[in-house]
Amino acid sequence: MSPRHPDCHGNLINTPLRFAGADGWLVLRLVGLLVFLGAASSCPINCDCHSKTSLVQCHPSSPQEIPEDYPHWVQNLSITNSNIPILRSSTFRRNGTNLHNLTTLILVNDNLQAIEARAFSDLPRLTTLDMSLNALRNLPGEAFAGLSHLRVLKLNQALGEPSLIFNLPWTQHLRSLQTLEVSGNGLQSFPLALMDLENLQMVHLGNNSIQRLSEEEISVLRDRKIRIYMSLNPFICDCRIRDMVYWLHNSSQTLDAQNLRCSEPPDLNGSLVFNLKVDSMKCKNEDLETASYVFFGIVLALIGVIFLMVLYLNRRGIKRWLNNFREACRDQMEGYHYRYEQDSDPRRSNASTGI
Ligand SMILES: *[C@@H]1O[C@H](CO)[C@@H](O)[C@H](O)[C@H]1NC(C)=O
Ligand SMILES: *[C@@H]1O[C@H](CO)[C@@H](O)[C@H](O)[C@H]1NC(C)=O
Ligand SMILES: *[C@@H]1O[C@H](CO)[C@@H](O)[C@H](O)[C@H]1NC(C)=O
Repeated sequence: MSPRHPDCHGNLINTPLRFAGADGWLVLRLVGLLVFLGAASSCPINCDCHSKTSLVQCHPSSPQEIPEDYPHWVQNLSITNSNIPILRSSTFRRNGTNLHNLTTLILVNDNLQAIEARAFSDLPRLTTLDMSLNALRNLPGEAFAGLSHLRVLKLNQALGEPSLIFNLPWTQHLRSLQTLEVSGNGLQSFPLALMDLENLQMVHLGNNSIQRLSEEEISVLRDRKIRIYMSLNPFICDCRIRDMVYWLHNSSQTLDAQNLRCSEPPDLNGSLVFNLKVDSMKCKNEDLETASYVFFGIVLALIGVIFLMVLYLNRRGIKRWLNNFREACRDQMEGYHYRYEQDSDPRRSNASTGI
């Protein structure tokens, strides 16, 4: 039997003391019963147990202190503010069945950096997994194997390596995932790779480094009807944000659309993206393009005018030249005609073949 925490045990100790004056046999039986009950729902060391909410909260200071045995009623397990750099595949693989009913697992602020393959595979009922405030650098493709019922995955400020989110072999097992929280991870664009998650409905993308949504990203989000949160991103409010602003107006998929703010250009810093007057918005590149088209047009027009002037000024010379040309042509044609007549003279040809 593992040692028990005073919080869990206190109630059990206090209760029999009230019977101190009663019949000894009864007290003995009660104590025996209570010890039995106490053993059945013992609280692991370094943990607080709340049977009414089926919650066990643990604060181990090292991986070795992660409990091995949990009360049979546990459905929500929280192991926080600890130091567990590597979550071993054996951590939750207990031969007892106590974790088989676990629905919520919270591993917040545990200095998690790597998760071994199949680390959660003995938690078949898990629907919510929160690994926020960690520094994950290594998520193998099999990290979430077995979590086929997981609906909510929270990875807020959890990715020590933001590119993990763009290269997602690990999504293959999260067939039921509906909500993914990846706030505060320094993401620079919307992770389209997430679209492999076929049941995804909601993505929390706040407090990242996203500067705009591209046309492609918007059309994918629109097709999949995915709802998102995006405040606290440094949006660049030039003409390239136009499609996004139209979309914010057109759709209600961005749930915090009214809170998105520009970080650039300086004169728009802090203003609301939703209120931008995008129709009058010009990009530097766009201006350049327009200017170059106008310049090209002017040059073409000038060349045309000069050509027409040359034609006009030279009209007499041109007439003369045309006449000369026509005469030259006529002479030439007559010459041909003459030679043709000579060549096709039957007598001449007969004479030549007859010889
Ligand atoms: C679980 O049982 C297997 C044998 O069935 C044993 O090899 C393993 O060490 C046990 N694991 C734990 C954590 O008790
Ligand atoms: C935003 O994320 C950074 C880490 O990327 C964190 O330090 C900061 O506290 C977060 N801000 C808010 C308001 O959550
Ligand atoms: C909706 O989006 C289209 C372009 O996709 C845009 O032309 C239109 O003005 C938008 N409507 C509103 C109300 O913003």
